[in-house]
Amino acid sequence: MSSSPQGHGHFGDRLRNWLSLSGLVIMLGSVFAFLMLFIVDMMKGSANPYVGILTYMVTPAFSTLGVTLVVLGIVFKRRQERREGRRTPIVIDLSRPRDRRILGIFVTGSILFLFISAFGSYTSYQFTESVTFCGQACHEVMEPEMVTYSHSPHARVSCVECHIGPGATWFVRSKLSGAYQVYATALDKYPRPVPTPIENLRPARDTCEHCHWPQRFSGDLVRTYHHYLSDEENSEYSVRVMLRVGGGDPDQREVSGIHWHIANKVEYIATDKSRLEIPWVRLTDSQGRQTEFRTPEFTEDIARHEIRTMDCIDCHNRPAHIYKKPNDAVDRALAQGWIDRSLPGIRAKATEALVQEYATKDEALQRIAETLTAAYPGEPTILPAIAAVQRIYSDNFFPTMKANWRAYPEHIGHKDWPGCVRCHDDNHVSTDGQRTISFSNCNSCHLILAQGQGEELELMTLGGQEFKHPGEDYDPAFKCHDCHTGGP
Ligand code: HEC
Ligand code: HEC
Ligand code: HEC
Ligand code: HEC
Ligand code: HEC
Ligand code: HEC
Repeated sequence: MSSSPQGHGHFGDRLRNWLSLSGLVIMLGSVFAFLMLFIVDMMKGSANPYVGILTYMVTPAFSTLGVTLVVLGIVFKRRQERREGRRTPIVIDLSRPRDRRILGIFVTGSILFLFISAFGSYTSYQFTESVTFCGQACHEVMEPEMVTYSHSPHARVSCVECHIGPGATWFVRSKLSGAYQVYATALDKYPRPVPTPIENLRPARDTCEHCHWPQRFSGDLVRTYHHYLSDEENSEYSVRVMLRVGGGDPDQREVSGIHWHIANKVEYIATDKSRLEIPWVRLTDSQGRQTEFRTPEFTEDIARHEIRTMDCIDCHNRPAHIYKKPNDAVDRALAQGWIDRSLPGIRAKATEALVQEYATKDEALQRIAETLTAAYPGEPTILPAIAAVQRIYSDNFFPTMKANWRAYPEHIGHKDWPGCVRCHDDNHVSTDGQRTISFSNCNSCHLILAQGQGEELELMTLGGQEFKHPGEDYDPAFKCHDCHTGGP
């Protein structure tokens, strides 16, 4: 069974072609590169997205390329041999030391490679699930989402826990759309701002409800909304509100309050993409009775529209990416003392400076400093105030991505966006004409415990006060968001 050049070929011979040899070099090189980078990544401990991309995406791609080249080389070589009439079956003769050696190297090499690949794909998988990858790798595109997320109550919840959730189908769906997103980013084809709402976002019951038990009775929440007027004195006008959040589990307490919507099925039709126009609502109560509400203007056939079932996202649509409204952010800075309230008219001027059109963040920060310095010459406290306004800008405005509060409507509340008033506007009438979804009954959602400034805020009325709007009375036909926009 001796081998001869014309007789049987060796496997090692087949590897001797340019394609396979270069493939081998690429493969070994990338495995070493992977190991090196992996050690660097472990030792640095810091989450650098570029090391991550190199380690877990680029080097595995090269290993795969290497293996493909090796195999292709062998296939071509065989074809060539066949064409030249040298059909030579591989014969491995274990009695020959050379064959034993080659086989040994081959088997050990394969096991090592498979092991490293398995380990590599696991770490690659983990990496593509990390906040670093989702939020920082495509730095410019995701900067707005990442920055606002890191200031939110969910800053310790990873992106995938809300955007993908557990289970294989959603995992595959997300990787497929992710692959398209990598392509769109590489070719600069993505829209600015990144559009919202996300179409086909995984239903909240699979994500939010993984951590938040929806039926939990939250009880009443007391919140103070600090506000200042745009007058010379920056007069305070704060509102202390008790929100009747309630709960949705009849076994615990009565189903009541705002979270009543979770225990009852509420469906709706939105006629615009942002879901700001809701002309039709259908309620199915716990006894299975259905009530349809629609606005008088909406006469279309409902079969032509998509019907959505209300879930957490229809109210809590900004739990993680919170673009603060300039008014609220400046009010917060005044309440905290970061901006000196004794600077005349600073509330109006600071908000005005924030909402100008700026091309880049650097330009914005510089122009904010210039405008405010010029408006308050010789005032020492303007310096910390400028720093506070600049910080508000950096955290909430992203000019190159055109992302700020205006691009992302918020559905909770009703002051600056329609929110609850999309349905609760006294204008959605039930089919029998007997009921409307109410707004004017303010106390069904909250009690105003105190309002105004200074001592007025200590005078709490547990039964709830009538809201006293600052300034002159306005026509009650107006809704709050007709005048209030979150900006000046
Ligand atoms: C607490 C849950 C939660 C976490 C954590 C979270 N998101 Fe979101 N994200 C949402 C919701 C809810 C929306 C809005 C969905 C809608 O209105 O359809 C959203 C929207 C987005 C959008 C679309 C643009 C926009 O702002 O509406 C992008 C992009 C995005 N998220 C990226 C990320 C990235 C990157 C991370 C991690 C750094 C992350 N998200 C973490 C819940 C979350
Ligand atoms: C991985 C767990 C997890 C997931 C998933 C999650 N949350 Fe949360 N959420 C938390 C934790 C923890 C807190 C409390 C944070 C704190 O108080 O420090 C919280 C707080 C909140 C709050 C109160 C915020 C505040 O201002 O005090 C709301 C509202 C909320 N989550 C809604 C949502 C919604 C809507 C989703 C789905 C889009 C969601 N959460 C998904 C863990 C989660
Ligand atoms: C009808 C609108 C609406 C729906 C639907 C809704 N919420 Fe809420 N939720 C509110 C409002 C309003 C508050 C009061 C806090 C606020 O205004 O920010 C609140 C408060 C909360 C809080 C904070 C409670 C606390 O004790 O601090 C959590 C957590 C929460 N919601 C989770 C959820 C989850 C999870 C879902 C989906 C199962 C959900 N909510 C559905 C309107 C809603
Ligand atoms: C459908 C429920 C609902 C009804 C009805 C309702 N509100 Fe509200 N209101 C809310 C919620 C929810 C918030 C809290 C928003 C948030 O957390 O940002 C709020 C907040 C407020 C605030 C504080 C806003 C701020 O930013 O300072 C005022 C003032 C207010 N409501 C007044 C009224 C008045 C006056 C009425 C009656 C004409 C009314 N509301 C009816 C749900 C409602
Ligand atoms: C998609 C439409 C829709 C939206 C958006 C909506 N609601 Fe409702 N809500 C309803 C319907 C329908 C009812 C039942 C009205 C009835 O029974 O007459 C209701 C009832 C309520 C009730 C009374 C529950 C009870 O105990 O009977 C409260 C409180 C409430 N909503 C608060 C809110 C708040 C706060 C928001 C905004 C964060 C909001 N709703 C947003 C449709 C909506
Ligand atoms: C006709 C227009 C109009 C309507 C409608 C309106 N407001 Fe106002 N509101 C104003 C103006 C103007 C100011 C004074 C703004 C200033 O000085 O900065 C103001 C001031 C306020 C303030 C204190 C300062 C601030 O900017 O937050 C609150 C709180 C407020 N309004 C809440 C509401 C609520 C809640 C509603 C709905 C129930 C409402 N407003 C409806 C025009 C309106």
